[in-house]
Amino acid sequence: MKKLFAFLITIGIFVSIAAVLSAQRQNENSINPPESGSKPDFPENILKIVERSCFDCHSDNSGNFAAKGKLNYSSWDEYSIARKISRLDAICNMITKGKMPKRNFVKKHPEKALSQEEKEIICKWASEETNKLLGE
Ligand code: HEC
Repeated sequence: MKKLFAFLITIGIFVSIAAVLSAQRQNENSINPPESGSKPDFPENILKIVERSCFDCHSDNSGNFAAKGKLNYSSWDEYSIARKISRLDAICNMITKGKMPKRNFVKKHPEKALSQEEKEIICKWASEETNKLLGE
């Protein structure tokens, strides 16, 4: 009886650990409807791309706090000019290097990958936007 009890507790612990781990994974790779949450005031074509490829982690719809701390499109309009400029540079940098969207995420959701053309569109916009913010 005692052995059975210990056995059941062990199983229980394993199941809890597995549940926590799988919840974390889901959080990392979760797909959220882009409809809810506020959106930045970007040109239509840019918004469409980042909504598809970035919003799952970098918006109020996301539970990914590591990602949102670095960049949250839902808070974009409240960012300071300096922060916007720094984020615009980081965005182009990350996508050009293929670091964003995250590789394991793209493996699971291939439709979220950025094409070469989309990367160029984002980078061109990022540099034009930076110039605008600098008042040139
Ligand atoms: C699956 C989740 C996920 C997706 C999708 C994603 N990111 Fe990220 N991103 C993260 C996480 C997590 C971080 C925090 C730092 C890290 O882990 O690299 C991050 C960090 C960043 C940073 C900050 C880098 C720095 O160090 O300052 C930028 C910029 C960024 N992401 C841009 C993007 C862009 C642009 C897209 C869409 C094309 C995107 N990300 C899609 C998860 C994601």
